[in-house]
Amino acid sequence: MKQQVKSKERVAYHGEVFTAEREINAMLDLVKQETERVDSRFLEPACGDGNFLSEILRRKLEAAKKRAIPPRKKRPLPLEYEKQAVIAIASIYGVDLMMDNVLACRERLFEIWDKEYQTICKKEVNEECREAVRFILNRNIVCGNALSLKEVDENGNDTEEPIVFSEWSFVMENKIQRKDYRFDKLLAGDYRPKAAKRKKKKSIEGGYQQMDLYSMWEAKPSDEGELLTSYVTDYRRVQEHGE
Ligand SMILES: C[S@@+](CC[C@H](N)C(=O)[O-])C[C@H]1O[C@@H](n2cnc3c(N)ncnc32)[C@H](O)[C@@H]1O
Repeated sequence: MKQQVKSKERVAYHGEVFTAEREINAMLDLVKQETERVDSRFLEPACGDGNFLSEILRRKLEAAKKRAIPPRKKRPLPLEYEKQAVIAIASIYGVDLMMDNVLACRERLFEIWDKEYQTICKKEVNEECREAVRFILNRNIVCGNALSLKEVDENGNDTEEPIVFSEWSFVMENKIQRKDYRFDKLLAGDYRPKAAKRKKKKSIEGGYQQMDLYSMWEAKPSDEGELLTSYVTDYRRVQEHGE
């Protein structure tokens, strides 16, 4: 079993107590349907080294495998699985104050993603695609303060830089679109369309009360100035454009 505490100091200064696997699964089961959807977006605002996010990724990759199996076949097509697995990892977001946890979280998610590809496709994943996934993880798992919504420095102190998240969506066969938004603007604006608001209200009993980036991104921000970066590229080459 994984240790829940690394040191007394880290508990005292950062409230770092890791959640046990049993509780993680019980909590994720409250939103089971969403965790088993390849493209549902999840954000953990104090992600630590990724206890919740890694279990979410495992569930999404299982769903990715099912989606990549053609009708009347038993095995997933490697290329289709690769794309589905990229959608899965690109929909997972995290913030943490401590850089060591952020780095550990990125690495852990990458390892799960990479190993699962090998297990399912019985071969190593293409190197360019690996680089693309590392790039996406560097953008999605951010070293920042989830209360002030600013990036932090190596001591965990707020900088002037706002946290910025990238929205990733497949727009054509092999093309992915990246759109960057400031996190504070996403939270401040009521960007949810009417349909998403209705869905949220109806499903309160179903436990759909997580911080819900998905519905925030469903609507278009009213002010075009909110969109910071936007480009479309081959999904294996996202890392060749911008930071
Ligand atoms: C209680 S641990 C939880 C880790 C993980 N979510 C889990 O359940 O195993 C708390 C984590 O929250 C981070 N943290 C505390 N305050 C934070 C803040 N304002 N913004 C971002 N992360 C924060 C700490 O650095 C630590 O890694």
